[in-house]
Parts: sequence; C-alpha cells; structure tokens
Amino acid sequence: MTDTPKRLGAPFLGYGVGLRRPHWDGVFEAADRVDFLEILSENFMDAGGEPSVVLDRAAEAFPLVLHGTALSIGSVTPLDTDYLDALDRLVERTRPLWFSDHLCFSSAFGVEYHDLLPVPFTREALDHVVDRVRQVQARQPNIPFLLENPSYYVEYGANEMSEAEFLVELVTRADCGLLLDVNNVYVNSVNHGYDARAFIDALPAERVVQLHMAGHDDLGDVIIDTHGAPVIPPVLDLFRHTVERIGPVSTLLEWDNALPPLETLLAQNDAVRAAGVEVHGPYPRPEPRGQR
Ligand SMILES: [Fe+2]
Repeated sequence: MTDTPKRLGAPFLGYGVGLRRPHWDGVFEAADRVDFLEILSENFMDAGGEPSVVLDRAAEAFPLVLHGTALSIGSVTPLDTDYLDALDRLVERTRPLWFSDHLCFSSAFGVEYHDLLPVPFTREALDHVVDRVRQVQARQPNIPFLLENPSYYVEYGANEMSEAEFLVELVTRADCGLLLDVNNVYVNSVNHGYDARAFIDALPAERVVQLHMAGHDDLGDVIIDTHGAPVIPPVLDLFRHTVERIGPVSTLLEWDNALPPLETLLAQNDAVRAAGVEVHGPYPRPEPRGQR
C-alpha cells in the first residue's frame, strides 16, 4: 500500500469526479468507483429544494472539495463580499477538505466576462493577487485554499516572468495550495511553446494539493480547453510524469461540456486511476464523510 503524505494538511483522496445534475442519482450508486466529489461552488450556494437535498447527501456519502469560477482573484475590483459570504455559508455547510478557484479574473468594474481571463505575469499583479489570496484565507483559516493554473490564449507584452515562476512565487508567498490542471499545462505548452514536463518539475511538490484531468479540442493551429472530450494519451503521460515527480495527489476528472453518460465518465476516471496506481501503487480509499 502506497504512502500517502498530507499536503498542506490535506489528505490524498484518490480519484474523483464532479457532481453534475444528470448524474445526481447515478453517482451515489457508483460510490465504489468514485473516491471523492468536487462541487462547483456557484451551483450550490444557498441551495434550496432538490439541490439542497443532493448536497447534504453528497456531503454525507463522499469526501467533498469545493471548486469555484467566480472569485475573480485577479480582478482590480475589490473582492465581492456577498460572494465570499455565500462561499463561507457553503463551506460551513459542506465542510470540504479544501476549496479552490482559478488564477484569473472573470469580472471587473461590475462587468461579468463569463470567461476566465489570465492575469499578466508581472510583479505588480503578483503582489495584488497575493494580497487577495490572504484576504480569502483570513475568512477560512482552517481550510486550505488552492488556486488553479488556467488555460490562456493570449500572452501579455508586459509579462516580466514565466507562468511557472509566477505560480511558484504566488503559492509560496501567499502560503496557499496549487490545484494543478494537467490538461491546462498541456494545452498551454502546445499553444505557447514551452516544455510541459519542465513546467511541472519547477513547481513546489508539497503545495500541489489536487490535480485536474480533462479533455480538450484540437482546432489545428490552437488547442482549446473545452472539458468536453476524453483525456488524450499525451495528457495521461503528463499525469504519470506528475505523479512520478510529486507522488500521489487527489485527482479529479473534469467534464463540463457535452456531458456524457455517467458510465463514460466513470470509465475515464478508472483509466486515470489505473495510470496513477501504475506509478504509486495501491492506496487506501478515503472514508466516507459519515464515518469520519
Ligand atoms: Fe481545471
């Protein structure tokens, strides 16, 4: 049985999937193939009715982690305290192992962009994001907060450092975790011409608390992080490399667009798990919430 060290106090949870409405019933019947669930925070904030029932059932049956898309940590507009209040209520209700969002901005000056836009890799942006991460952490000091490396399709002329240098300094100075999206590293490495393995090797292993695995679409001259297709073999190879370098990390299969039947999702999760087990060996499954 593999040794599973904690990262920022967070345990290795194994291999999980997102809780999506079409799978609300099936995922509970497939609990033996799902080690943990990731909840999209905005889908369940102040939930009532059926979402509320499903949320409580999920929190009882699985270890849970929260993942958001609307924090807009990189925006120049002050953090939205109404949003943070709702996030606090969700954290208190679900007691997640950690919560996360993206290194990006998705709104500014009252405008919602409905996209995750990259921050420039500059000293000024770094200081700004570190300060805002600390504000978020101050509200939930006992639960690790992670930022995810996003995919991006433009590079700023103002950049003063590489993406990897920015990420390393950010998570170190802000004392937060990293949600490393392996597919995003692959997508960015192809679109922006860098070495994906060297990027991963540059990251501080102890701060990588969770991985994302996902599919993307190849448009020929650019590849797009759609989360709407199976994981391709080179991304699975990059995942193996990641686990070889940093050990077992809780890994979540993301599939947001063109959501397939649950069985397809579970088969993908099984394939990612098999690749991980090849590298790190068998692992103890986490206990359901009800038994902790
Ligand atoms: Fe992701």
